[in-house]
Amino acid sequence: MSNSYKDAYEKSLNDPNSFWGSVAEDCHWYKKWDKVLDDSNKPFYRWFTGGEMNTCYNALDIHVDKGNGDRTALIYDSPVTDTKKTYTFKELRDEVAKFAGVLNSMGVEKGDRVIIYMPMIPEAAIAMLGCARIGAVHSVVFGGFAPNELATRINDAKPKVIISASCGIEVKKKIPYKPLLDKAIDLSESKPNATIIFQRPMEIASLQDGRDYDWATLMSDAKPHGCVPVKATDPLYILYTSGTTGQPKGVVRDNGGHLVALKWSMKAVYNIDEGDVWWAASDIGWVVGHSYIVYAPLFKGATTVMFEGKPVGTPDAGTFWRVISEYKVKSMFTAPTAFRAIKREDPEAKLVKNYDLSKFEILFLAGERTDPDTLHWSERNLNVPVIDHWWQTETGWAIASNCMGIERFPVKAGSPTKAVPGWNVQVVDADCNVLPVGQIGAIVVKLPLPPGTLPTLWQNDDRYIKAYLEEFPSYYKTADAGFIDEDGYIYVMSRTDDIINVAGHRLSTGAMEEVLANHPDVAECAVMGVEDQLKGQVPLGFLVLNAGVTRDHAEIVKEAVQMVRDMIGPVAAFKTATIVKRLPKTRSGKILRGTMRSIADKKEYKVPATIDDPLILEEIEESLGKVGYGPKAN
Ligand code: COA
Ligand code: AMP
Repeated sequence: MSNSYKDAYEKSLNDPNSFWGSVAEDCHWYKKWDKVLDDSNKPFYRWFTGGEMNTCYNALDIHVDKGNGDRTALIYDSPVTDTKKTYTFKELRDEVAKFAGVLNSMGVEKGDRVIIYMPMIPEAAIAMLGCARIGAVHSVVFGGFAPNELATRINDAKPKVIISASCGIEVKKKIPYKPLLDKAIDLSESKPNATIIFQRPMEIASLQDGRDYDWATLMSDAKPHGCVPVKATDPLYILYTSGTTGQPKGVVRDNGGHLVALKWSMKAVYNIDEGDVWWAASDIGWVVGHSYIVYAPLFKGATTVMFEGKPVGTPDAGTFWRVISEYKVKSMFTAPTAFRAIKREDPEAKLVKNYDLSKFEILFLAGERTDPDTLHWSERNLNVPVIDHWWQTETGWAIASNCMGIERFPVKAGSPTKAVPGWNVQVVDADCNVLPVGQIGAIVVKLPLPPGTLPTLWQNDDRYIKAYLEEFPSYYKTADAGFIDEDGYIYVMSRTDDIINVAGHRLSTGAMEEVLANHPDVAECAVMGVEDQLKGQVPLGFLVLNAGVTRDHAEIVKEAVQMVRDMIGPVAAFKTATIVKRLPKTRSGKILRGTMRSIADKKEYKVPATIDDPLILEEIEESLGKVGYGPKAN
């Protein structure tokens, strides 16, 4: 690997064939590619066309075949169940091969979809890798989503089989998953042939004869299945993420480009080598979990830690330091919100002193902008570099980072540093003109995107083009706004759409508005993300009631909150709404969301010249004050 960022960056953009072609030599291929970058069907660029490989082989078998089967592949640490378990590469390979055999015996074949709705247990990773082993396409759904969201994904992906567990555990609370799954299957038009349920001892789910199968029983007489060669361009997974409507976007990831980019990123971005211990404290339901709990560390032959717990409360704010010291974690990756939670409980970081963190080298943060307070608190108390890096579900890996395995740059608070090799990042105005240094605009990436990024949306090329490629021709629209400074540092300031980021979880306010609009007393509504000390942002609802509604307002708000919880899930963290007489609008009828957000966040704002009725802002301040927001909050 080049030890100059400039060399690597320029080569990756000027000669992507040679750059990624040589990176790909580090992976196992049954058949080498015909083309590294295939641009024969623009704007649908493909990587490694003609190549054949298997993702699971590259994650597990390759290490066993190289004689490293006894190295630790996965450490499961679950303070919520008081369990610790390790798997060597050979043990994990054998379990995955058996589970692939189970899937195969249930008729799952290459290209079939399998939905995985599971908590943070090793079986979730085994299920994902089992799918990859036989070329099936997995779609993991985060456990905090409600049955309705799961049903939407079932309808879109049309899985042959759904894999789940009897329950998840949220700190001390047991969440039975099976009733949620049953409800989702009832709600969906597309029905799976079967479900496989991993029974956890704290909750035994009832199984429906002929449809639901017990994981352990199936595994006890499963025949191991080998790795099935797939095309590099075949889909490995679909991961649904929030779009601007209630219909989530099915981000597709292919096999070959994903393998090449992720394996490379482990060293280039994270400075992780074979045999190192790495920990991504996220959830397999998110892209971070896919890329950096499961696939990338295993491709690299590193040990991955899978943690079923929270940064606080399981049992205390020292749990991260306990895991780092117990497993000699070299580097970890989490969201800033996790560190804010720890900082809130243990502001002076007293608990750090109880643990030996001498092996810990780097803390990586992503999912939302790292605020300077959290950055400096973490640097001061951990005494390691704290690296903010920026990426999205769509991109699958970092667009901008301080590449710790290539060349290290000084950290500038508020910036995820520079574009990673492979990413031609620009800032443009509404007419797609590249803006000068320091000017805020839309952050876009010149096509082609590097390998490992989304080639399209699941069975929806049109939406892919409309959502990402249409507004700025020949660029990928990140839907983030920001600027690039004179040293090439990127600053990501805000989204340009109605996506909000709640505790590192990506949510659509549009989807919440769709739910609220169904309340029988609600005539109009708006949801926006307002600042929150812990979660970064939380959603806040404004409800305008139908004329003549005389019911108790508190009751209506309670029902509205419950509706979002029931339809989207607890993860939405929609807990506050306020009833207003009208929403402030421009004369052309556009809701003044920015102004309302500024009021809620106690920021200065100018009364927009286009407002239809300026007096209404006074009323909004009053209503916000009653729910604890804005200048009139008590
Ligand atoms: N299954 C079921 N329910 C879940 C769930 C899951 N997998 N994950 C979260 N939930 C529920 C929680 O129980 C909570 O429900 P509640 O309203 O009944 O309390 C709700 O969804 C919100 O959960 P969460 O966002 O985790 O908030 P929290 O207040 O429980 O914890 C943090 C706050 C900051 C500690 C927590 O969000 C955290 O650790 N975040 C790390 C960020 C992260 O992993 N980001 C991923 C990208 S890197
Ligand atoms: P997700 O698809 O859930 O990973 O969310 C992606 C979005 O989170 C991005 O488009 C950004 O808005 C935001 N995001 C992620 N990482 C960062 C970061 N390091 N700095 C600023 N915003 C970030």
